[in-house]
Amino acid sequence: LSYPGPLAMADRYFSLYPEDTSPLWTSPCSNKRHREILPAWFNCSQLPQLLILGPQKSGTTALHTFLSLHPQVQTNRQSELHYEEVQFFSDDTLYQRGIQWYMEQFPYPPSPSVPPTNSSLPSSPPPPPTLLFEKSATYFVHPQAPQRAKAVLPQAQLVVILADPSHRAYSWYQHQRAHSDPTAVRFSFSEVIRASPSSPPHLSSLSHHCLTPGHYHQHISHWLEYYDHSQLLLIDGDELVERPAAVMDQLLEFLRLPFHPFQNILQYDSRKGFYCVVESNRRKKCLGKSKGRSYPPMTDEDQQWLSSYYAPHNAQLKELLTRLGRTPPRWLI
Ligand code: A3P
Repeated sequence: LSYPGPLAMADRYFSLYPEDTSPLWTSPCSNKRHREILPAWFNCSQLPQLLILGPQKSGTTALHTFLSLHPQVQTNRQSELHYEEVQFFSDDTLYQRGIQWYMEQFPYPPSPSVPPTNSSLPSSPPPPPTLLFEKSATYFVHPQAPQRAKAVLPQAQLVVILADPSHRAYSWYQHQRAHSDPTAVRFSFSEVIRASPSSPPHLSSLSHHCLTPGHYHQHISHWLEYYDHSQLLLIDGDELVERPAAVMDQLLEFLRLPFHPFQNILQYDSRKGFYCVVESNRRKKCLGKSKGRSYPPMTDEDQQWLSSYYAPHNAQLKELLTRLGRTPPRWLI
């Protein structure tokens, strides 16, 4: 038998195991022996301990903005690629860049936002540890994100915001229209949600991307194939809109971070119709124009159609939450 050569062997291997064509990065930080031989620049504490997973249009920017106000929390550097999001685990091109690239997206070394006290004074307390986090709303639905994230961040804590899936779908459609997506501009919301596989491909694709992130049970179950449920916090999207300070208290408890007076920093703004951040000059700073948009309310027909569409998915979500001993969001009760 003649040896076909390395290239032919590689072709054969990848035709047998196509899933191996893309690498799966694993963190050297979870192994003591690997940690000991790491180069000095490889700082394991430069990896995030918390991921806000999404889904898109559920209030992820509000949660990201509010959590960043905590003095013991830091997020990734601003990215020009996907606005403020890193999207390492959901963007194949970025994922190919490897763990070092991912680490470089975070501040080095994680520095507390509280100015360090003079260490020569014997009584000065150690600076508070800083928790690094990122939110990429694309992670929630991405088929490979849970496996990729687990391999790099096995101990990470995860946060998912559950907004009413019908409202989330409508918000997502309005977002596409605002970004002049030609299909969203051309077709009404009614037409988009009712599209079928036999509709023109661009319409059925838009419909799929609008509706399927709201199959919460399916996506959460996929993440729980890789992470223990004790690592996952579910936040009610309505609560985040109506009582953000209470949600932040809940989040701090989950992260075991010290109390922060969110009830003094977050104030309702009647013009915006949402809670905004009170700055040091006592002015309110609301999220940008693309968050908390004004658009006409959903029609009763579309609301009813979506309620029956999501009914079986919501029933499965309720079952899952009951099994996990979690309180269901208000819109699910
Ligand atoms: P709308 O703009 O459709 O109202 P994301 O940040 O994940 O893209 O989600 C955007 C949604 O966050 C907004 O959708 C809005 O409903 C919701 N949201 C929650 N709290 C908010 C806040 N304090 N300010 C603005 N939008 C908020």
